[in-house]
Amino acid sequence: MTRDGSAPASADSLSAAQTAYDAVRARGLKLNMQRGQPSDADFDLSNGLLSTLGELDLSMDGIDLRNYPGGVAGLPSARRLFADYLDVKAENMIVWNNASLELQAFVLTFALLHGMRNSAGPWVKGESKSKFIVTTPGYDRHFLLLQTLGFELVAVDMQRDGPDVDAIERLAADDASIRGVLFVPTYSNPGGETVSAEKARRLATLKAAAPDFTILADDAYRAHHLGTPPETVNFVTLCRDAGHPDRAFVFASTSKITLAGAGLGFVASSEDNVKWMSGYLNAQSIGPNKTEQARHVKFLRGYPGGIEGLMADHAALIAPKFRAVDETLRAELGEGDEFATWANPQGGYFISLDTAAPVAARVVELADAAGVSLTPAGATYPDGLDPGNRNIRLAPTRPPVGEVYTAMSAVAACIRLATEEYRAGERGRGRS
Ligand SMILES: Cc1ncc(COP(=O)(O)O)c(C=O)c1O
Repeated sequence: MTRDGSAPASADSLSAAQTAYDAVRARGLKLNMQRGQPSDADFDLSNGLLSTLGELDLSMDGIDLRNYPGGVAGLPSARRLFADYLDVKAENMIVWNNASLELQAFVLTFALLHGMRNSAGPWVKGESKSKFIVTTPGYDRHFLLLQTLGFELVAVDMQRDGPDVDAIERLAADDASIRGVLFVPTYSNPGGETVSAEKARRLATLKAAAPDFTILADDAYRAHHLGTPPETVNFVTLCRDAGHPDRAFVFASTSKITLAGAGLGFVASSEDNVKWMSGYLNAQSIGPNKTEQARHVKFLRGYPGGIEGLMADHAALIAPKFRAVDETLRAELGEGDEFATWANPQGGYFISLDTAAPVAARVVELADAAGVSLTPAGATYPDGLDPGNRNIRLAPTRPPVGEVYTAMSAVAACIRLATEEYRAGERGRGRS
């Protein structure tokens, strides 16, 4: 059987697939496999966070948590805690409020309006429209953020060991309007790929036409292991050692460590970049929410095994859901690539599936009609347009494990039917 979906199939297999799908549809399911969110059981691990600070916890690091003073880069204890997490020094850290996406937006906005520290001028004033490299399949909010700020997206493939660095080197060498690259270095969304040390080194050393070429590494899943942790890379030190000390910003948050809607976002970069960014942050805020930072410090330092211990407890909840996806797809679609191939990530929040035939949109449509909500087809590509119409992002973390089995069994029936429909159409057009 082939990747182009041209395998011979009979009218019998189409009607069998239709019958199986009709049976699934008759069950009246109402399941959701598109939300990249923790489950309530994951949140429950951090419920203690909410009562960590008592009425008498009025200060930390000698700073009154209730008053303005304290510094725009975050509480010293919070900077130290998350500096350890990102393997940098506290001086390299800004700990801010909820949402690392906001910090990504700040860096890009400050660069557009004022330029980076070493820029010739504001990025908006360049001769041509600023471009940013993204990886595909990738995270739709990265595309949305960059496009909302006016960047033109240049997509390169996310490969098994990280972004297609050959392509990035080629693109960045020739075009000074390419300002940088935004990608997920660990357990990428949606494919689960982790950048290799070699590719990270090449990104840190690459020769770019833009002197202020910037690496935005969104390390949202840095500690979200489901198997043996990979070797982590440190873009801040790699870039410093490569003679580009201000090239990298590494973002992360506690959104999938403590509470997705009430956590802390933070960013690591050179000390000079921390000062550069703090200057602009200071113009718009006297400082981040100190009580939130203080209770995260108390809670995470007090959790058995610290952040690592908490992440091991998350893994115990999440790993069975990833197994449920893999087991169900194997059982229902077979071990080969007749209907689909899918990733088996060792961490993160998503499983990326590619249909053998160009039927991703039809699979999502069939699933929706059967009561299983999937991430919209195309969402993993800029403008929602998957050129191959094959990629589907599966998000198993939010539903209970039993629902993941049921949902994936339904999705498998949708994949079979969409594929058989496509092959019947090809036969009708005399293409097989
Ligand atoms: C790669 C990636 N970055 C960032 C986020 C959101 O992070 P935050 O809540 O810190 O803004 C997500 C959420 O799904 C994500 O997958």
